Amino acid sequence: MVTIVLGAQFGDEGKGKITDLLSQSATVCCRAAGGHNAGHTIVHDDITYDFHILPSGLVSPSCINLIGAGTVVHIPSFFKELAAIEAKGLKDANTRIFISDRAHVCFDLHSVVDGLEEAVLGGRKVGTTGKGIGPCYADKAARRGVRVGEVLEEGVVERKLRSLAAGYTRRYGELNYDVEEELGRFNTYRTLLKPFIVDQLAFMRKHKSSPTTLVEGANALMLDIDHGTYPYVTSSCTGLGGAIQGLSLNPTSITSIVGVVKAYSTRVGSGPFPTEQINAIGEKLQTVGREFGVTTGRKRRCGWLDLVMCRYSKEINCYTALNLTKLDILDDFDEIKVAVAYKVDGKELESFPADLEVLEKIEVEYDTLPGWKSNTLGTTKWEDLPPNAQKYVEYIERDLAVPVKWIGTGPSRSHMIERA
Ligand code: GDP
Ligand code: IMO
Ligand code: MG
Repeated sequence: MVTIVLGAQFGDEGKGKITDLLSQSATVCCRAAGGHNAGHTIVHDDITYDFHILPSGLVSPSCINLIGAGTVVHIPSFFKELAAIEAKGLKDANTRIFISDRAHVCFDLHSVVDGLEEAVLGGRKVGTTGKGIGPCYADKAARRGVRVGEVLEEGVVERKLRSLAAGYTRRYGELNYDVEEELGRFNTYRTLLKPFIVDQLAFMRKHKSSPTTLVEGANALMLDIDHGTYPYVTSSCTGLGGAIQGLSLNPTSITSIVGVVKAYSTRVGSGPFPTEQINAIGEKLQTVGREFGVTTGRKRRCGWLDLVMCRYSKEINCYTALNLTKLDILDDFDEIKVAVAYKVDGKELESFPADLEVLEKIEVEYDTLPGWKSNTLGTTKWEDLPPNAQKYVEYIERDLAVPVKWIGTGPSRSHMIERA
């Protein structure tokens, strides 16, 4: 049985929290794509864990974790994150984490190039996390990248990294980058990394009897390289297709696809955001929702829930259940809006448009629902939600025709309503 958790909007929906919850009864938890651009926060009583490249399943003591073939891995971040969670009490984390030998290595060089590419774009910059994700996937697609398994082979990283650095120097001139320093570190990684590297197929076969394999989506559908708001996207396949491809999953083994939907919308970085509220409402969502990026500390742009976008996301990712998150952040609004249609020149669009120029022109049509003006923080029972909060959830459920199985009412694992 495979359960896949996917972000339905622009990221930061709360994928980490539901992954942590579900991984308590999973044997294996895997990341399929993306890299340390992800930032997943998990709150347990008084401990807060920030995961970037490591899967959130590490918090559950008996869960084994895999960083799959579709990912890009920045090795120093991997070790740093591992040390950080071990210091927070997850002492055996290093015995429960593995990396596919086919995942790609994200170098410091990629991060330097990421910055240069953004600088060239000027006002049209993507607003990346600066972690080198785009250049790393570009090198992978150009067939000159380094796979994690190759780190173990003497001389390969040296040959390939020098060649990459020379290529970028030809393109950008002198780089603010020391190839010798980065290569030096790889000498130690050759030994340090060895116990973590696995053949993904053999690994999966070994855990075949696992009652549940959990896939932790990173980034989100609207940041997908094919289906997102290109070019304002990340450089991997962040949806259902990416999960299957990156982990070589048997599609018939997938029993549940959980779409994580924030009760409003947020976006970090540039790019279209039809329901963005650049006003007091947006500021209130940002402040009450503590909407700051985990990876870069940037303020997240905020706006109303966009059902046109969520319907598009659902059609691509085939959600079987939803986790509506951060409902508690809407506790103090007199009324709550949801986008229900996009119109251009008075005519409703069929779907979320590909053309950014069209997106700039659209008029968003909203439905307005009454707020509930009462505290839902920490609520664990559906019956304890105020009637207007229940109506809000049911409205979304009806519109998307997918059951809302979990409702987030606070940051902690226990702040969740689970519906039958
Ligand atoms: P992810 O990238 O999808 O895992 O989401 P992030 O961790 O980047 O951002 C979600 C933030 O909201 C984190 O700080 C979570 O601790 C927090 N969070 C998750 N679910 C809820 C919820 O239901 N209510 C509140 N108030 N906070 C939540
Ligand atoms: P999680 O997993 C929010 C955004 C960046 C930028 C664009 C490209 O925490 O939901 P990149 O560095 O990937 O080349 O940046 O994608 N982005 C995210 N935004 N949450 C994320 O991950 C993101 N991962 C990438 O802000 O706009
Ligand atoms: Mg995040």
